[in-house]
Amino acid sequence: MGERLVSKSPKQTFSGGKDFAGPLVAGDVVALSGPMGSGKTVFTQGIASGLGVTDVVNSPTFKLVGEYDSDPPLYHFDFYRIKSTADLATLGLDHYFGGEGICVIEWSDLFPDVIPRWAIRVSFERIGEGEREISIKRGESETVGN
Ligand SMILES: Nc1ncnc2c1ncn2[C@@H]1O[C@H](COP(=O)(O)OP(=O)(O)O)[C@@H](O)[C@H]1O
Ligand SMILES: [Mg+2]
Repeated sequence: MGERLVSKSPKQTFSGGKDFAGPLVAGDVVALSGPMGSGKTVFTQGIASGLGVTDVVNSPTFKLVGEYDSDPPLYHFDFYRIKSTADLATLGLDHYFGGEGICVIEWSDLFPDVIPRWAIRVSFERIGEGEREISIKRGESETVGN
């Protein structure tokens, strides 16, 4: 069953992310998708805030993964920065997914094959000036495995 949220401002998207973070637990993978400017980073900043991260959260650049020292830690990926499957391999995703932190991946649809079936999927759509539709789909049960 999906959840749906219509956000009318960046602030609402941020607080949507913050609320979303509440029930997250270590090992969760959150796969974000949607076009440029649709609110993925703003939502991630809300998640970070919900986890208690006080550092500024921006898209990871040269390190390819932003690591934040919350409890559980937050790992922020942006597949838009990944140009090849070789680059992807250097991330060592297996070490992160299902591990001790929470993984949030922007542009997850660029490399769909690496996203576990049990990931939580959040898609973003522009539905007007300043308006975004945010849809959340829970993945298959983790006991099913990947
Ligand atoms: N309702 C909204 N929710 C989120 N961002 C919005 C909204 N309305 C306008 N914006 C603007 O859209 C942009 C979203 O940027 P960002 O989160 O970086 O997108 P993405 O990471 O998906 O490329 C920001 O400039 C933000 O101010
Ligand atoms: Mg972004």
